[in-house]
Amino acid sequence: MKPPKPGSRVGGVSLWRYWRLFRKDILSAQPERLYRAKMAEFKTPFFRSFLVNELALVRRVLVERPSDFPKSDRVTRGLRPLLGQSVFVTNGAEWERQRRIINPAFEGGKLPHSFNAMLAAGEAAITRIVPGELNVEEMASHATADVIFRTLFSIPIDDAVAAETYSAFRAFQREQPVASVGALARWMPQGGSLKARRAAKRLRGLIEVMVADRQKTIEAGNAPNDLATKIMTTLDPETGQGFSEAEMVDQVAIFFLAGHETSAALLGWALWCLAAASDWGDQVASEARTFMENPEFSALSSMSVTRNVLRETLRLYPPVPMFVREAQGEERFRDRVVKPGAQVVISPWHLGRHEAYWPDPDAFDPARWKDGQPTPREAWLPFSTGARVCPGAGFAMAEAAVLLAALMALFRFEVLDEPVPVAHLTVRSQDGIRLRVVAR
Ligand code: HEM
Repeated sequence: MKPPKPGSRVGGVSLWRYWRLFRKDILSAQPERLYRAKMAEFKTPFFRSFLVNELALVRRVLVERPSDFPKSDRVTRGLRPLLGQSVFVTNGAEWERQRRIINPAFEGGKLPHSFNAMLAAGEAAITRIVPGELNVEEMASHATADVIFRTLFSIPIDDAVAAETYSAFRAFQREQPVASVGALARWMPQGGSLKARRAAKRLRGLIEVMVADRQKTIEAGNAPNDLATKIMTTLDPETGQGFSEAEMVDQVAIFFLAGHETSAALLGWALWCLAAASDWGDQVASEARTFMENPEFSALSSMSVTRNVLRETLRLYPPVPMFVREAQGEERFRDRVVKPGAQVVISPWHLGRHEAYWPDPDAFDPARWKDGQPTPREAWLPFSTGARVCPGAGFAMAEAAVLLAALMALFRFEVLDEPVPVAHLTVRSQDGIRLRVVAR
């Protein structure tokens, strides 16, 4: 398909306007030149921030010398009341130990176990949809929270504890400030707002009960074979120790947060893109119908159009728009000296739309991912890369394909108005993504 051109119209609105607005309005404090620059420096009274778009620098920070650029506490501190010492916020030896216990739960062979949970959540999601106007962001959050409950604790979201946990999560997320490079200095208040801390406390109380109950079933030898059991029973091959119950609360909290909020953002934006580019929507629907006739894990690999649509959505709307590291020692980035304590910002948002790496960078064109096309993979970082790469990447791609298939096989989604992307914990739309749902 040709990328949308100025003048093509969807729902009476020029598509070109959509694409331009997408880019301009995210984190609107940011200048256009960041989509062309190799690097940019931001000065605040107390420290410097460097946004790096040059691929060799991104590689240095994430792949070659990650321990010289640990996670920045400045950014994660607002999440600590919820996440405690979870794998998302720790550094060094403590982080390495946690990844040794977590990684086996996400190895390729484990994905088919989660497939049934994804499918069940997709089937439940379609029964909740009534044709007409729909905020697909909310629908997607509900569906992906359902996936994570079923995967972690083998309970659907309409279970009372799951429903209460989900509502406490929403309360926490709504209290998270909007992120932007310019706002780095005030990105996260110490410990978060009072409301956020209260929501985190309530949430942790709920998770503690689920973890304690699971511990009992593990001891009784009748625990279900799910992600929670896997992580609670895996021992660190180096020390022979597993997570304590208290540590599990931290890890479960990050699995909920990282595992449903990001996937919901991906699903919501994918539906929006397919509504705006309806010929791609029709192709995905055709794959979806075939898949849903006999839904099996092995059939996911033949959904190549869907996979390319998801890759392209992740390029244009990476759910985690930026992540931040802190320089430990003095460094040289291009012609600049980077002092210890400087913040290094890696931005999948800017890399994915960078003019030096992508032809027609703002156009939604899944065809660029077809086999044999020269794709600048190093500039596509929705799941990060290197040692701290997202352990849930394979899970998330399978989940999005299954949920999209369940929805697209039955419904067509049509544009109603223009969502304005903003960065909260993830890239969301300022006022939700409203689409018209029509039965196919
Ligand atoms: C579309 C969906 C997803 C996206 C775009 C995504 C993206 C990311 C990114 C960019 C990071 C690195 C952040 C940083 O370095 O600051 C990350 C880390 C992480 N993600 Fe995901 N993620 C997704 C889904 C999931 C799922 C489904 C799970 C688990 C079920 C998960 C679990 C984690 C964990 C535990 C980390 C921390 C890893 C570490 O620091 O060692 N993510 N994710």
